[in-house]
Amino acid sequence: MYNFIRYVSLNEGTAPKSLEQTPLPYAKDDLDPSISEDTINYHYGKLYKGYVDRFNKGEGDADFNEAGAFLHDILFRQYQKSSNSNQPTAISENFINKHFTSFDKFKIEFEKTAIKIQGSGWVYLARDGSIKTIKNHEIRMDIILLVDCWEHAWALDYQADKKKYLANQWKIINWNLIGSRVGRLS
Ligand SMILES: [Fe+2]
Repeated sequence: MYNFIRYVSLNEGTAPKSLEQTPLPYAKDDLDPSISEDTINYHYGKLYKGYVDRFNKGEGDADFNEAGAFLHDILFRQYQKSSNSNQPTAISENFINKHFTSFDKFKIEFEKTAIKIQGSGWVYLARDGSIKTIKNHEIRMDIILLVDCWEHAWALDYQADKKKYLANQWKIINWNLIGSRVGRLS
């Protein structure tokens, strides 16, 4: 599904032996101003890499590290170069309109749920059209669109303004990829 080793391994009935970090499908400064190059260097280059490296070295909690790698794999894959006019397309647009009436209503619901998360966690659009949250890290197989609400994802660029971070996410979502997840999961 997400080209993730665990998924393949689950199908084969064996535990994963090693993880690989997903290469970024865009340049490190492409997400600016939604996400700065400095945050990519820290978030992708150090934190996400850390989950992969620790899992592979057998350091710390294997389930926690694997889930951290899994979620960041989904996250960094789904972005594209920042654009103010970015909107859902084709399949993703139909999916959102079906479950939320309009993109604007979806954004309001999604951001409302994300703002309420206390401490570290994630918010995502699920395959059944609902908006769900994850505390810390957890592997979920029904993720279509995912936003990282851990402080490390936004504090460097937005200080305390989590609301602005969330609003700026919509400029960098690769809606064609989201549509391909909808198509694959439904
Ligand atoms: Fe993160």
